[in-house]
Amino acid sequence: MIDIKITPSKDKKKKPDENNLSFGKYYTDNMFIMDYTETIGWHDARIVPYQPISLDPAAMVFHYAQESFEGLKAYRTANNEIQLFRPEKNALRMKSTHNRICIPEIEVDDFVHAVKTLVSVEKDWVPSAEGTSLYIRPFTIATEAHLGVKPSNTYMFIIITSPVGAYYEEGINPVKIYVEEEYVRANPGGTGFIKCGGNYAASLASQVKAHEIGYSQVLWLDGVERKYVEEVGSMNVFFKIDGIVYTAPTCGTVLPGVTRMSCIELMEKWGFTVSEKRISIDDIMNAAENGKLEEVFGTGTAAVISPVGELRYKDKVAKINNFKIGELTQRLYDTLTGIQWGKLPDDMNWITKVD
Ligand code: COI
Repeated sequence: MIDIKITPSKDKKKKPDENNLSFGKYYTDNMFIMDYTETIGWHDARIVPYQPISLDPAAMVFHYAQESFEGLKAYRTANNEIQLFRPEKNALRMKSTHNRICIPEIEVDDFVHAVKTLVSVEKDWVPSAEGTSLYIRPFTIATEAHLGVKPSNTYMFIIITSPVGAYYEEGINPVKIYVEEEYVRANPGGTGFIKCGGNYAASLASQVKAHEIGYSQVLWLDGVERKYVEEVGSMNVFFKIDGIVYTAPTCGTVLPGVTRMSCIELMEKWGFTVSEKRISIDDIMNAAENGKLEEVFGTGTAAVISPVGELRYKDKVAKINNFKIGELTQRLYDTLTGIQWGKLPDDMNWITKVD
């Protein structure tokens, strides 16, 4: 296990109003850093005051986007305990991201140890207002100064933390989603299944277009036939049609979300049939027309469980469940957040406590 040297900031920032955090606006007093070189491997793990980092302008991350990131949260329970939700799943996904884009792996135990140690140092920053948490953003960047295209031989792994409220302005109220036909997010053999910044850069043009016409997010179709639903900008997506729950399979073009996986486990435990076979946007719009599209919701660490109240595809608009949160969506939200904030017992063994 890595040894972490802790030199925390002597200055404490003023904490923001917990009832007005929104998402990703405030950063805590300290950050975690670890370096990689070919000769030593990952080394010099440390917690230092939150500060700008200095990189050579030729650092490869700026040119060829060799970068990975993760997102997880720390929650404060009513007993003032701090807990994480399945951090080892984020560590495993980061390993898979690193393998795809040729970044050296970080061991699961080291990743979890780094997250736990930083959160423990930043304990006072974990908010307690309803629906708030400390968002944790681990990321790795290629730092070698080199303009030829090849894997970097040096990297930095950094973790920053940010107290957050709801990701969407709508909170737990339904969001409106625009089905994108022009651009695609991922293709087989590409990077759709990993968490790298480039995937998100490529999504921005569609997001801007959706915002301009009053939609919060984009629903992506598959890149080959532009027919099957895949995922939404910052979350996986589920459709309940005539009692059966559908979500896209994670076989190469869809992000394997930790919240997605947890929702599937919960729904299966409750006796629902969850189909991970591909489903077309036409089938979904037809189900809406025939009154069979019962619920649509997104899942993600940042978004938690987000009901979808409207889908727009070409010139068709489907209103879902009268723009109200559905019964299953509410049950998933209550159960998942109940476990995360320690209001419900951790029956699934998903919680890691932070000392
Ligand atoms: C998350 O849910 O943690 C994400 O990383 C999604 C997003 C904010 C990019």
